[in-house]
Amino acid sequence: SKEEILFTADEVSKHNSLESLWVSYKGKVYDVTEFAQAHPGGAKNLLLAAGKDLAPFWGLYQQHSADHVQEILARYCIGKLDPKSVKKSCLKSDKNTAYSNEPERHPAMKINNPTPFNGEPPPSLLLRSFITPNELHFIRNRLPVPEVDIATFTLDVSLPNGNVLPLSIDELKEKFEVIEMPVTLMCAGNRRSEFNAQVKDKKVNGLSWGQCAISTARWKGVLLTDILEHAGISYQECRAKGLVHLRVEGLDAGPDGVGTGASIPLERAFDRSSSVLVAFEMNGEEIPRDHGFPLRLVVPGTVGARNIKWLSKISVSAEESESPTQRRDYKLFGPNVTNVKNIPWEQAPSVQYLPVTSAILEPSTGTKGYAYSGAGNGITRVDISVDGGQTWTQTEIFNENDPYTQKSFAWTLWNFELEIPEDIKEDKIEICIRAIDSNCNTQPEKIDALWNIRGLLNNSWHRIELFVTR
Ligand code: HEM
Repeated sequence: SKEEILFTADEVSKHNSLESLWVSYKGKVYDVTEFAQAHPGGAKNLLLAAGKDLAPFWGLYQQHSADHVQEILARYCIGKLDPKSVKKSCLKSDKNTAYSNEPERHPAMKINNPTPFNGEPPPSLLLRSFITPNELHFIRNRLPVPEVDIATFTLDVSLPNGNVLPLSIDELKEKFEVIEMPVTLMCAGNRRSEFNAQVKDKKVNGLSWGQCAISTARWKGVLLTDILEHAGISYQECRAKGLVHLRVEGLDAGPDGVGTGASIPLERAFDRSSSVLVAFEMNGEEIPRDHGFPLRLVVPGTVGARNIKWLSKISVSAEESESPTQRRDYKLFGPNVTNVKNIPWEQAPSVQYLPVTSAILEPSTGTKGYAYSGAGNGITRVDISVDGGQTWTQTEIFNENDPYTQKSFAWTLWNFELEIPEDIKEDKIEICIRAIDSNCNTQPEKIDALWNIRGLLNNSWHRIELFVTR
């Protein structure tokens, strides 16, 4: 019978387009080319799994476990998958490198760099929910993912008397009030690729992120300020001694043994309303290894690089963290600084709060996307223009802003039903999007003046061209 035909994983992987779309699931192979256009979740999403195994995708969207979905799939079975042909993820086979023990990543992730791993989810999946599933949360690693022995792990807090206070995860949970809140994290390099695509004769330095180096999770943990108070670290004493920086370090050590570090202004570490968290849970689960197991510093409203993963050390200091991510890479220079070999690093402050930004994730007549602003500023309005910025109207927005303060540490999702006039003469229209935050900040129109050598914080209007078919 047809079901006895054996296919290799390699062969399945070649059928990865709408012309010929195969998938595997639980050891069987399916040709779903015909079904793709009828998929209730969209052909685009089905295409993400083309030539691959369905399990990690169906794990994200539980409605597929229903009987009627399984019956649909069964109709398209064309054979069996040769189990011997199924390879483990390529990273795992990197036997003798520092990257031989990386966690599995979701096959939908767009990889911007394999080692250290840097990946962002596809726009069509990012927009599906206010909370990003852990498997799809963007990942920006700098070094191999550390392996942490939870039995011996402690968070070490440096005390004013020179001693160290070690705290286990259990102690954190027992001693302090536990808080859970939705927080959007964004890489400072989000939307960097637009610089190279739109600004002529100049090249920015950094990984080419699209508009999905941003994700939202419910982070659960304890307030950093409660830990500091428990350790006997007083804000007044720190101020008197000129200790103006709160420093943290992660366990992702390089060859020199120094972990990636960061610092935030001391004031913010002690400010309850800034909600700086030492987090141990992400969306109701232990924090996955890629996102900092077992602890991550979550500094809401602040550039991703300060949200240190695999958090292991806390101290106060007169000096900023010496980590290159604090002293160099995440600094903003003018468009006139163009020589990557001669950047005057010490002349600019490190980036902390994020500016207001937005992006279109689904460019179609049912247009959707996100808007976000740092520093706890909520989004109050998202404007859309379908004529390149001459006229504007408002999108429908959804968020969890605090109704009293309009503040939020999470993004706003928006959508808009676009009506293309019947008598339109143009072959294409340009959609522009811009957000306004609760401090009435808005986004600059043009990208040129925002150009900076590291390609950071591109928050110009996001633009997409739609081609009109008749
Ligand atoms: C919904 C089938 C693959 C994402 C559905 C539904 C069916 C279906 C029947 C409607 C479920 C219901 O009645 O509630 C299939 C089949 C697939 C497949 C047969 C493979 C051959 C995928 C993949 C993805 C995906 C690979 C994502 C990456 C979705 C989403 C929905 C959905 C997001 C929800 C639509 C909505 O709620 O608006 N799928 N699916 N599906 N599917 Fe799939």
